[in-house]
Amino acid sequence: MNTIEVRELRRIYKTTIGVVRRKTKEIVAVDGITFDVNRGELFGLVGPNGAGKTTMIKMLTTLLIPTSGTAKILGYDVVDQANAIRSRIGFIFGGERGLYWRLSGIDNLRYFASLYHVDPEVTMKRIPQLLELVGLSDRGEEKVEGYSRGMKQRLHIARTLLHNPEILFLDEPTMGLDPVGGREIRQVIRNLQSEKKTILLTTHYMFEADALCERVAVIDQGRIVALDTPEALKQEVRDLSVIEIEVFGVPEEILNRIRNLPYVDTVSVEDLDQKQALHVHSVKGSEAVPSILASLASVRVGKVTVREPTLEDAYVRLVGGKV
Ligand SMILES: Nc1ncnc2c1ncn2[C@@H]1O[C@H](COP(=O)(O)OP(=O)(O)OP(=O)(O)O)[C@@H](O)[C@H]1O
Ligand SMILES: [Mg+2]
Repeated sequence: MNTIEVRELRRIYKTTIGVVRRKTKEIVAVDGITFDVNRGELFGLVGPNGAGKTTMIKMLTTLLIPTSGTAKILGYDVVDQANAIRSRIGFIFGGERGLYWRLSGIDNLRYFASLYHVDPEVTMKRIPQLLELVGLSDRGEEKVEGYSRGMKQRLHIARTLLHNPEILFLDEPTMGLDPVGGREIRQVIRNLQSEKKTILLTTHYMFEADALCERVAVIDQGRIVALDTPEALKQEVRDLSVIEIEVFGVPEEILNRIRNLPYVDTVSVEDLDQKQALHVHSVKGSEAVPSILASLASVRVGKVTVREPTLEDAYVRLVGGKV
């Protein structure tokens, strides 16, 4: 039995548009997704905004009913056996609220433990262990209002572990955190992995998926476009090198000219402060640089670097340049 089993799962949202002549519009958020997650695995879902990641997690955590298809968690059906699932899973959604700021970290955990009917004796033992796990041992007595965003997010993770769930669903757990905060959350996730929890994680950060996940499903417009280990996904682009060029305002026609050059596979543009970074995927590596620079003759160009492809490059190719 797989810990998570998803078969042809679909979810359609119906919304109304127009004020006078109201029409219903259907949005297919998840469009026939099938995958399994093994026991103890750390599985990643990545994809551009609106790909359907949160909708997927909401269906698996029994918060949203699928339009069709099936999903089983530890063998229990998400629709017919939702109660059996709820006591065995934990979840957090990025940027979540719902901690009591006037209470200390420890009092927040005590409160939620009684809400979840965790035995008070078990709670007494578990709270220090959880604070240790999320790196808040020396800050538990302080009021949450004085916590940084990263500390609040780590307290959220401790809260969702109070009933000792076997499976965790983490929707963009590092969203909105600074690099140090993000690194601390990733350390907590690694600690959870060594405690043999099964984890389904969504993220926008490819380096995060690469650093943490055993397998990654790339989803785009509600469908899986690739599912493999980060290494295997990177193999898909191993024939490419990536040329990064700093430019200051580049017209679309010049981008198209570069796209049409022989040896050029994909071109994506990342907006940086007052400049852009062109990421050109090419099978010819540094040999392609002169012809690309010739195309950019009328544009102010900064630093040029050639590097090995990363998981992000594989992802950009799979989702056709959307980041
Ligand atoms: N309550 C809703 N009503 C109507 N449409 C919705 C609703 N929730 C989500 N959608 C639509 O469903 C699609 C998938 O949204 P979802 O939030 O699952 O994507 P996501 O991959 O989590 O995106 P993000 O990376 O921005 O968090 C989008 O087109 C979104 O606009
Ligand atoms: Mg989302």
